[in-house]
Amino acid sequence: MELLPLMAVALILVSIFLLADDVSAERSTYIVHMDKSSMPKAFSSHHHWYSSMLNSAKSLDERGLKIIYTYDNAFHGFSVVMNKHELEALKKSPGFLSAFEDGAVTAATTHSYKFLSLNTASGLWPASNYGKDVIIGILDGGIWPESPSFSDEGMTAIPAKWKGTCQGGQDFNSSLCNKKLIGVRYFNQGTRAAFPETPVPDSARDDDGHGTHVASTAAGNYVEGVSFFGYAPGTARGVAPRARLAAYKVLFGGGYESDVLAGIDQAVADGVDIVSISITFRRASLYENPIAVAAFGAREHGVLVCFAAGNGGPSGATVRGGMPWAVEVASGTVDRWFGGTVTLGNGKSITGWTTFPARAAIRNLPLVYNETLSACNSTELLAEAPFNSIIICNKTEEDPFFFFLWNYLADSNVQAVIVISDDTSLLRSNNFQFPGAIITPAQSVEVVRYASSSTSPTASIDFQQTIIGTEPRAAPALSGSSSRGPALSYDRILKPDIMAPGVLILAANSPYSINSAPVIGKNVFLSSDYNLLSGTSMACPHIAGVAALLKAAHPDWSPSAIQSAMMTTANHLDNTNQPIKDMAFNYSNATPLGIGSGHVDPNRALDPGLVYDATPQDFVNLVCSMNLTREQTQTITRSTYNCSSPSSDLNYPSFIALFNFDERGMTFNRTFHRTVTNVADGAATYKVKLEKPANTRVRIQPKTLVFQKKYEKQSYSLNIRYRGDIDSFPTFGSLTWVEETGKHKVRSPIVVSGGADNFG
Ligand SMILES: *[C@@H]1O[C@H](CO)[C@@H](O)[C@H](O)[C@H]1NC(C)=O
Ligand SMILES: *[C@@H]1O[C@H](CO)[C@@H](O)[C@H](O)[C@H]1NC(C)=O
Ligand SMILES: *[C@@H]1O[C@H](CO)[C@@H](O)[C@H](O)[C@H]1NC(C)=O
Ligand SMILES: *[C@@H]1O[C@H](CO)[C@@H](O)[C@H](O)[C@H]1NC(C)=O
Ligand SMILES: *[C@@H]1O[C@H](CO)[C@@H](O)[C@H](O)[C@H]1NC(C)=O
Ligand SMILES: *[C@@H]1O[C@H](CO)[C@@H](O)[C@H](O)[C@H]1NC(C)=O
Ligand SMILES: *[C@@H]1O[C@H](CO)[C@@H](O)[C@H](O)[C@H]1NC(C)=O
Ligand SMILES: *[C@@H]1O[C@H](CO)[C@@H](O)[C@H](O)[C@H]1NC(C)=O
Repeated sequence: MELLPLMAVALILVSIFLLADDVSAERSTYIVHMDKSSMPKAFSSHHHWYSSMLNSAKSLDERGLKIIYTYDNAFHGFSVVMNKHELEALKKSPGFLSAFEDGAVTAATTHSYKFLSLNTASGLWPASNYGKDVIIGILDGGIWPESPSFSDEGMTAIPAKWKGTCQGGQDFNSSLCNKKLIGVRYFNQGTRAAFPETPVPDSARDDDGHGTHVASTAAGNYVEGVSFFGYAPGTARGVAPRARLAAYKVLFGGGYESDVLAGIDQAVADGVDIVSISITFRRASLYENPIAVAAFGAREHGVLVCFAAGNGGPSGATVRGGMPWAVEVASGTVDRWFGGTVTLGNGKSITGWTTFPARAAIRNLPLVYNETLSACNSTELLAEAPFNSIIICNKTEEDPFFFFLWNYLADSNVQAVIVISDDTSLLRSNNFQFPGAIITPAQSVEVVRYASSSTSPTASIDFQQTIIGTEPRAAPALSGSSSRGPALSYDRILKPDIMAPGVLILAANSPYSINSAPVIGKNVFLSSDYNLLSGTSMACPHIAGVAALLKAAHPDWSPSAIQSAMMTTANHLDNTNQPIKDMAFNYSNATPLGIGSGHVDPNRALDPGLVYDATPQDFVNLVCSMNLTREQTQTITRSTYNCSSPSSDLNYPSFIALFNFDERGMTFNRTFHRTVTNVADGAATYKVKLEKPANTRVRIQPKTLVFQKKYEKQSYSLNIRYRGDIDSFPTFGSLTWVEETGKHKVRSPIVVSGGADNFG
């Protein structure tokens, strides 16, 4: 038994020796995937085995190779700093599957502008007794444990299944955890290996607010009377206010895959039920993406993983992750508008958009419209604007217009600004540094007419208005920056899966953060315990929270059942009963490539009627159908590798039929097979309702599903024939199983589209 590794060592030594002339290769961090079942019995642990292998693989004249992490739960292997020769030597070791260089990752909030966000109200907040004892692991930038959102008031004793710890560190006493924030850990070795000269703190303390915001969005406790400088006032609470939180700090400004992996691996071992990851990573095929591999392992352990779809929209094929075994979340608006009321001297008033973070007194000041001045594009020009006036600026096409505008205004003698713009990206930005409001070109007609025709025009502006409802815009609307499908890594499953609130979300903040702090003028940074942020980062923890509620209500449901319940009950209509709109394309209808199944509806998800379940073996069968090599397949599936029945027809609650843009004029034909499980009590009969995608013929068999009892399964097939051309692509429809009583509607979007390669 011991002979095998020793012989391998001898061979490796020979090969290293032959390569010894060009030892200059630089070392970098690699994530190495191993076949755990190949470990010789001689080794007492995997760590021991991996160390022994590395000892053999190191270049002769180099210092020893040190393992950064050993991974043993969500995936099998380790990370290590080594050079290419050492990697080549390692590849010859028994049990080696694959190795990939560590990749940089970033938080999924858009960086270019700072964003503000709204908290989500009304239908999204389910009853507070759900979520109890479900544990949500947050992989992000750590936590600000002193936030009142992490108080454990009202929380019961920590569930016995919890195996994690509260890891103390710099500025972080291990006594800071409680019955709400039950665990904390940090993983910084990969970041350290990448930046050996930069100090990386040994601490889970959140210094920029992103991790704290995400965690409190998923499961923050109730906190009365919070607001963002008067906007969005109310009681803050997470989606699952009685769920537990475990924070895994894997971002230190930026981050590395090896650290994220270590976090997922540990979270699974600690006993979390749900993992929320608002992090984006480089483009890579699924087997090259260690986070996708770890998400597969987590799912296999019964842990539901949700990912932020990314902020790369609105172009097509910008979803980077696209994992069939995770929930990918798009970002939408909520029914809340931050207003500034502009009242003209003639008594007319107009509601504009503002998040200026103070109650400025702008009362009966001269209103100035001058076409030359309205370009507002230099300090010199604005210096000519009258003292103490309200100036009207007309946003030009050029970006970043606002970035400069705030500075020009701060240098001027102007008191306030009214900006004419229909740029919807402003509606998710927290960066309102000067007193003023934004109005649309349509609203501007009346304001400019008054300012130009009146002898001494004046205006007033009232700030801190929070407007809830369907005006001035229906909600939700898909955020322009939310990433769109088809997914780059695997386009045969529709991604993103679902949409959740991600625009202007009010949640806890780390008060000393400068990164996402609101600013007045050029450099007055305001501290706030609660902050408004936007991005798919904010959408993902909403889904984690809803999943926690469903897990608490239905402890026997698999992650696939929970995902199915959220997707088939999601709403594709907005609060005016019209199709959800896309902010990126002048509020035209959004498509399933942007919103997936639609906007999450937690109360309906509690009682979906039918679910599309999938077992870990179904996911293995899917991976087996991807035409990967044995090593690539096993990198994802690990020891459970059994490709006896490959199938790309995963039992998934949505449909995407791919077609090559080049095959114009051809008829194409695709059949899907699905099995639904009755999760409602008693017998039920469902009839199919079809919304046919344009230029298709669709056949569903059978058209009626009859269930005698709970947990009974029934199968059907969906055949789509498409005959059209490139100009009518992509096309969209849906399939809904409607219970005869009308009680349950189980809806799946249908997309007929070109693959990811056909976009961009
Ligand atoms: C950590 O907190 C405990 C209990 O509050 C306290 O006794 C201890 O001194 C603290 N440790 C540090 C390093 O601050
Ligand atoms: C508009 O502003 C420009 C630049 O300050 C100035 O030269 C011009 O006289 C102004 N026009 C009117 C009508 O006030
Ligand atoms: C400001 O905008 C005006 C009108 O578009 C243009 O003529 C001028 O060159 C711009 N000035 C600067 C400094 O960009
Ligand atoms: C604003 O600029 C656009 C062109 O960019 C122009 O068509 C429009 O008339 C301007 N509006 C005002 C009020 O100046
Ligand atoms: C956007 O839509 C509105 C209302 O449908 C329309 O009036 C406007 O012309 C459109 N703008 C563009 C740039 O297409
Ligand atoms: C795998 O290869 C087969 C045969 O070459 C092909 O029909 C199938 O479309 C491929 N599947 C994928 C996912 O590429
Ligand atoms: C693989 O799975 C099939 C059924 O799915 C089973 O019959 C077969 O024994 C399995 N093979 C191995 C090696 O486990
Ligand atoms: C489409 O495919 C199905 C099964 O894959 C087959 O039964 C059917 O005849 C095909 N239809 C056409 C028009 O090719």
